[in-house]
Amino acid sequence: MRCQVAIIGGGPSGLLLSQLLHKAGIDTVVLERRSKEYVLSRIRAGVLEWGSVELLREAGVGARMDAEGFPHDGTYLACRNRGFRIDFSKLTGKKVMVYGQTEVTQDLYAAREAEDGRVITEVDGVTIHGADSDAPYVTFVKDGQEQRLDCDYVAGCDGFHGVSRKTIPDNVLKEYERVYPFGWLGVLSETPPVSHELIYAQNRRGFALCSMRNANLSRYYVQCPLTDKVDDWTDQAFWDELKRRIPEEAADSIITGPTIEKSIAPLRSFVAEPMRWGRLFLVGDAAHIVPPTGAKGLNLAFSDVHYLYNGLVQFYQGDDEGVQKYSERALARVWKSERFSWSMTTLLHNFPEHTGFEMHMQEAELDYLEHSVAAQTSLAENYIGLPY
Ligand code: APR
Ligand code: PHB
Repeated sequence: MRCQVAIIGGGPSGLLLSQLLHKAGIDTVVLERRSKEYVLSRIRAGVLEWGSVELLREAGVGARMDAEGFPHDGTYLACRNRGFRIDFSKLTGKKVMVYGQTEVTQDLYAAREAEDGRVITEVDGVTIHGADSDAPYVTFVKDGQEQRLDCDYVAGCDGFHGVSRKTIPDNVLKEYERVYPFGWLGVLSETPPVSHELIYAQNRRGFALCSMRNANLSRYYVQCPLTDKVDDWTDQAFWDELKRRIPEEAADSIITGPTIEKSIAPLRSFVAEPMRWGRLFLVGDAAHIVPPTGAKGLNLAFSDVHYLYNGLVQFYQGDDEGVQKYSERALARVWKSERFSWSMTTLLHNFPEHTGFEMHMQEAELDYLEHSVAAQTSLAENYIGLPY
């Protein structure tokens, strides 16, 4: 089998890259370890930067997002009982779109299927060969049969646990990591969201976030110790804790109900450099992880896709500058999103090692944010997404 670009991983990065390249007349094969149903059962964040919205439209997969997504002009930050709003539209002229990652992935699968895209699911043993040569290829096992896929380039879109990053030799790859000493317990509930915009709440009991998927589907999170197990948290315990952490007005008006999903996720910042080794590129979670505070994970993956897609189109037109510069360009934006996600996490969470001094720093920063247009503009321009 042959294609121009072999794509490892059929998550949002791999599918979007495949769809964009297809539109540009570049032929791809996507190799995904899991079934499509499994990929679509993963619940992830739900806020799209406007750059991501435009990229999805460019890929021809924006119709359902435009019909069913919710453009948000701002967000609330809360500190104990005080809340204030950051007005993205007023401060930056831009907004974000609330539309779940699961929906994005579903739209991408539908588009690839409608255009007869080659997406091979449930493959095992994916191995990348000759990435540092002019003739790379990928081997894998499908239905018990080993197969070989020859290509010009390999895009490693296979997430944090994939094989692509591990293919880059240790003496080339440099990894940077920060693991946070807490997790997020998240629930989905078929109840109307408590607020029409998100609420990020700092509280001495721990951080809380009120988010949503649609008019009758709420997504809420509370910071919890990493030692907690989902089964330790009854629905009642979750709602009680959430209410203690958000401003009273929200706590009094929140509509609670049975939860339909509950999970605990750890928080991590991670970057691997470089993001290109020969003819192999790392894209999305394969190269970097951000803590979810600020909802940058998917958006950062999509900015990688943007740089790689443009570089590959340029390459097939006879100019390899974008391919050569992919890692440098992608990483410049990656580090800025890492900084924002880390600073939002540091500002809003309780850290076991914090003393009264760090707690005062957090409160002073929130107070500054509440009263300074300059500070709000900085947060807003990062939240809506830095330019590509
Ligand atoms: N072979 C083939 N596929 C693999 C392999 C492998 N060895 N290892 C992992 N995969 C697949 C996974 O099953 C998954 O479907 O690669 C896909 C990677 O998808 P994601 O983990 O969702 O990563 P990505 O597409 O980069 O998505 C961006 O940003 O912060 C996040 O939540 C956000 O998941 C989102 C991500
Ligand atoms: C979500 O809706 O799941 C969500 C929203 C914003 C975040 C993280 C998660 O910062």
